[in-house]
Amino acid sequence: MITVSKLAPALGAEIGGIDVAAPVDDATIAAIRAAWLEHLVLRVRGQSVTDPQLLEFSKRFGELDPPGPNPYGKPFLPQHPEMNVISNIKEGGAPIGNLGDGEAIWHADMTYIDNPPKAGLLFSIEIPPKGGDTFWANMYMAYESLPTQLKAAIEGRTAVHDATYNSAGIKRKGYKEVTDPREAPGARHALVKMHPETGRKCLFLGRRRNSYVSGYSLDESEALLDHLWAHATQPEFTFRQEWRVGDLMMWDNRCTLHRREAFDPNARRLMHRTQIKGDWATATPA
Ligand code: SIN
Repeated sequence: MITVSKLAPALGAEIGGIDVAAPVDDATIAAIRAAWLEHLVLRVRGQSVTDPQLLEFSKRFGELDPPGPNPYGKPFLPQHPEMNVISNIKEGGAPIGNLGDGEAIWHADMTYIDNPPKAGLLFSIEIPPKGGDTFWANMYMAYESLPTQLKAAIEGRTAVHDATYNSAGIKRKGYKEVTDPREAPGARHALVKMHPETGRKCLFLGRRRNSYVSGYSLDESEALLDHLWAHATQPEFTFRQEWRVGDLMMWDNRCTLHRREAFDPNARRLMHRTQIKGDWATATPA
């Protein structure tokens, strides 16, 4: 059976006793799913996994969700369009992956669509000697610890999740610059959502850039969002992943945010990534 060891007080657990490249039985998948719902972010170390094996393992948790539009307008892995590449490496002057070497600011994946993915899986193939750590934050804790006046300010409110830019600040192909967040293209989501599987309430912020809370003036919305984001991303709600080659991370995209710190542009960082389709249609409104 697998072992599960907590990684940080707020969230994160290490899973031991599993080889992701080998066939995994149903009982083990059920145990991993239970650990994922409890700890929100899982890490499996020391894995050696091919793309088809990562796809097979990912599919055990639900239907694959292909990556959103990238700035270059075509899949990074034409033979596996359902897999994304996160990398700063260029071949023949062209990027082989997304997000470059700068900071990727706090976000949850693809919340600019109505049904964002429920899980992300990220496998490290090459890592820089330093920098490029990834942080996750627990949005159950963020919601539960909100001051009463902030809870009241967001009650029944929705916010726009802008589709224009990715978390590295790069415009997606086909989108125009946004000058007024109230007109940003992208899904409108409730600021507080009920997790479809656990039934717990969590803060659902998605992305700060060009966000706007319905029913407020732009200035009021900006002030409210600044408060919410500062609260939600405070260090005690987070876990820091210091990468090793062969780490596989799997996170619950419904109740976490993540960010990636910058690293040396001359170093190489390469990760392959899958995600699982969301189940928001089955959620009860919070
Ligand atoms: C991401 O933000 O999806 C990528 C995280 C990372 O590069 O570690």
